[in-house]
Amino acid sequence: MASTTIVCFTGSGNSLKVAQDIADGVPDAEIIRISYKNLRRATVGYTGVVGIVFPVYYAGLPHMVRQFVELLNLDPQCYEFGIATYWGMPGIAFDQFCECHKKGLETVSVMGNCDARQLPGVVCSGI
Ligand SMILES: Cc1cc2nc3c(=O)[nH]c(=O)nc-3n(C[C@H](O)[C@H](O)[C@H](O)COP(=O)(O)O)c2cc1C
Repeated sequence: MASTTIVCFTGSGNSLKVAQDIADGVPDAEIIRISYKNLRRATVGYTGVVGIVFPVYYAGLPHMVRQFVELLNLDPQCYEFGIATYWGMPGIAFDQFCECHKKGLETVSVMGNCDARQLPGVVCSGI
């Protein structure tokens, strides 16, 4: 297992591009694409750094991302982060992302980017 795992759900490729850019910037990273066929990969037991990159759809978290995150089996020492891509209206996607995590996570930070006018920022942490 790579020391950094980037989990990505993408429709038109924006979130995949972000995932690839992150993976290119760290020495030992693997990208896992979320699909109905590989939801079971959420349960393997992740260690190290786990990042989840997803788009905002209809002001919320895509259903498949929710399913994956709810199944996600993380070592308690994992550092986890989430990044959403969206065109300007994140709605409650960040809240839903945080809510669907199991409690006891070491760190969760969520940021949005996509719009050049909008700087990424942490909107929640330490749930
Ligand atoms: C079905 C659909 C719904 C979307 N809903 C929103 C939305 O509510 N708010 C927003 O800011 N962007 C919305 N977008 C724009 C996407 O979040 C944005 O283009 C994102 O970067 C797409 O990522 P992807 O290419 O990885 O799928 C929507 C896009 C689609 C296709």
